[in-house]
Amino acid sequence: MENEIHYPHILDYLYAVTEQRDPLLMEMEEYARGRHIPVIQRESARLLEVLCTLSKPKKILEIGTAIGYSSIQLARVIDGPGFLDTIELDEDRADEADGYIRRADLDRFIRLLRGDAAQAM
Ligand SMILES: C[S@@+](CC[C@H](N)C(=O)[O-])C[C@H]1O[C@@H](n2cnc3c(N)ncnc32)[C@H](O)[C@@H]1O
Repeated sequence: MENEIHYPHILDYLYAVTEQRDPLLMEMEEYARGRHIPVIQRESARLLEVLCTLSKPKKILEIGTAIGYSSIQLARVIDGPGFLDTIELDEDRADEADGYIRRADLDRFIRLLRGDAAQAM
């Protein structure tokens, strides 16, 4: 898949200022790829990570959890006490997300809501 970020200097910057990949995220990328589950591109996740680090949100609302890949990355950069609400329609994906969020030890900071975001909101 073509990268969503086209400028090499921006990619270089993102790689320089964000953490190296951790094993859980790499496992999730592999899992999603193998099952054709759409998750955010690695570089785009890094861009969001930088934006969140700069803007220091206390709360994040995510619509479309899939397996929790972006939820985990965003929840890790929430500044101080805060939380991320994420909404997923598909029950199986929500179950998978729940497992990964627990493994990331972020279940205290991520509230996984099941159902149609239009209703949940
Ligand atoms: C592109 S994936 C999300 C990827 C995820 N944010 C990530 O990068 O790790 C979109 C997800 O939105 C879910 N979805 C679609 N329509 C929805 C709705 N109306 N309410 C909640 N979730 C929805 C799909 O089931 C799918 O898992």
